[in-house]
Amino acid sequence: MLNDKAIVLGVTGSVAVYKAADLASKLTQDGARVEVVMTEAATKFVAPLTFHTLTHTGVTTDMFTAPTEYNETHISLSEAADAVVIAPATANTIARIAAGMADNMLTSIVLATKAPVIIAPAMNVNMWENPVTQENISKLKARGFIIVEPGYGRLASGKMGYGRLADIEIILGTIRQVLGGKGDLGGRSLVVTAGGTQEPVDPVRHLGNRSSGKMGYAVAEAARDRGAGVTLISAPTSLPDPASIEIIHVQTAHQMKDAVAKATGKADALIMAAAVDDYQPKSAAKSKI
Ligand SMILES: Cc1cc2nc3c(=O)[nH]c(=O)nc-3n(C[C@H](O)[C@H](O)[C@H](O)COP(=O)(O)O)c2cc1C
Repeated sequence: MLNDKAIVLGVTGSVAVYKAADLASKLTQDGARVEVVMTEAATKFVAPLTFHTLTHTGVTTDMFTAPTEYNETHISLSEAADAVVIAPATANTIARIAAGMADNMLTSIVLATKAPVIIAPAMNVNMWENPVTQENISKLKARGFIIVEPGYGRLASGKMGYGRLADIEIILGTIRQVLGGKGDLGGRSLVVTAGGTQEPVDPVRHLGNRSSGKMGYAVAEAARDRGAGVTLISAPTSLPDPASIEIIHVQTAHQMKDAVAKATGKADALIMAAAVDDYQPKSAAKSKI
């Protein structure tokens, strides 16, 4: 899917930098040409050598040193990129981009590029909730930047709250969706069902089946990666919600039927990958879909 796509991965000075190494590795395994651009602060957390080893390409840390592969000007990376991804993005870099600054290699690339820019913030909850940061995020969204919202959880400070870098799979899914936008399913709208429905027998037990949901989720993700707008109607599974896919969670066959009827109104196609039980306790109405 990402075969030969040129991705500039901007890495900034957050404690979540180590997760960017995993992202760089997965993008490379997916076939992308990944050129990492680190801010000076990022290099205090992880050495450029880590990214160089994982991506087999150069790592740019200084605007005044020519990039290794795209070696014309300091903004040649911005022209070569199919997408610019900043993960993790600090409050500082977000503010600089929102202000239109170009005071390091990464912010210069962002200002110069015509490629889509995906920003995955990571910071302390108070920094994230600060009205200045929120204002900057709103500005960037309004200008067409794609923000991968941070998650909730335990932060490095020990506090609970929003500010954790989004899961790498969510960032990857967003990148695939953005780069797949011009694929052969571009402009199409698909509904996919997945998982195994469960019919309550009593307050404790339910009747279900062994569907894992993996096939439906894989179909939904493949359609997204080829440019489709996807609605995934999912009966219970143990799978995480995929990125950039509208997901509707249901439990019973009846709920599945209602959700399918509602979602397919404007859809081009329905792909049914869910395993549906139509068992109903004697007292309840039967449902068959
Ligand atoms: C240990 C440590 C962890 C930090 N973690 C974050 C962070 O997660 N998010 C953030 O916005 N800033 C964080 N900072 C502050 C940034 O490193 C600082 O604002 C820096 O100037 C960012 O520069 P850059 O945006 O050019 O990378 C941290 C600083 C330290 C010392």
